[in-house]
Amino acid sequence: MSASTQVAITGAAGQIGYQLAFRIASGQLLGHGQSITLRLVEIAPAMQALEGVAMELEDCAFDSLEEVVATDRLEEGFRGADYVFLVGAKPRGPGMERSDLLTENARIFSRQGAVLNEHADEHAKVLVVGNPANTNALIASSNAPDMDPRNFSAMTRLDHNRACAQLAARTGHHVSTVRRMTIWGNHSATQYPDLSQATVDGKAATSLVESNWARGEFITTVQQRGASVIKARGTSSAASAANAAIEHMRDWAHGTPGGDWVSMAVPGDGSYGSPEGVFFSYPVRCEDGDWEIVRGLDLDEFSQEKIRITGEELLDERAAASDLM
Ligand code: NAD
Ligand code: LMR
Repeated sequence: MSASTQVAITGAAGQIGYQLAFRIASGQLLGHGQSITLRLVEIAPAMQALEGVAMELEDCAFDSLEEVVATDRLEEGFRGADYVFLVGAKPRGPGMERSDLLTENARIFSRQGAVLNEHADEHAKVLVVGNPANTNALIASSNAPDMDPRNFSAMTRLDHNRACAQLAARTGHHVSTVRRMTIWGNHSATQYPDLSQATVDGKAATSLVESNWARGEFITTVQQRGASVIKARGTSSAASAANAAIEHMRDWAHGTPGGDWVSMAVPGDGSYGSPEGVFFSYPVRCEDGDWEIVRGLDLDEFSQEKIRITGEELLDERAAASDLM
């Protein structure tokens, strides 16, 4: 087995963290042959619960788990980290938008960015899950001046998976046959789930579903899916979020399989009418541990307008958090 890879998870005793830690320790992120040290970070009041998580990890006797570091000190949690999952933050409750969390959660990410800058591996890959994820990624990255902003990303993979599942159900095909789905923009109710480029079992999705559905119910269902889960469960998505986080990081590290693309929120470069200076979700392909935005897609006016709307929201969020950057 090769030298131990350092994987840090904040909020590790929370709902998502509790899923993530075990799946990663069992080899689902980097493969069973890769030794892993889990660096689990919590706030002081949750340290007793975190000790319990560490005990359960030990009790799993995972082959690939080398060590568990459980700490409420960010410096220790991020020391030498190769992969970082920034999950720890307050989740929204019923009736809230994710942006309502901005004031409370933003400070967490400015401090974490600064500590990552000092203590993580300079090439660490950082995935922000805590909401509002895109703007938290911008805050963390802005506070880590020695790290390449390309090493930060925010999670829209859950929205991507939700969109694939909705399209599969509508067309009566298995979800594994859906390709080229895209989530544009913010992980919020303005996100634009776009099936205009997608294929199902090799056929254009637009030839299989009605335009009214593609431009109406499909979009709103995906945009509101997080709220629907909160309404049903009384608490926000956790297992599906942890699954998406692992898929996001795994594809970033190992490449997007089979010529397909995935959705990741990465530093905006102005392409497709998106704003620069925010973290914006695009279709991306990953290879050799790096990502590239998919170029040359032909987008109609409907799509361009949706991209403009979600980009405006991200600019507003950036303005609201400007004192932390
Ligand atoms: P949770 O309340 O169950 O767990 C959060 C954990 O974070 C708690 O244990 C808490 O003690 C810890 N925490 C709080 N502040 C911290 C800090 N400064 N440092 C380290 N740990 C800290 O919440 P959850 O359900 O696990 O959700 C976590 C976040 O992920 C929320 O903001 C939620 O909205 C977000 N989320 C995002 C997506 C996405 O698709 N991007 C999906 C689901 C949830
Ligand atoms: C989700 O999309 O499920 C999460 O962002 C949680 C939420 O607040 O909706």
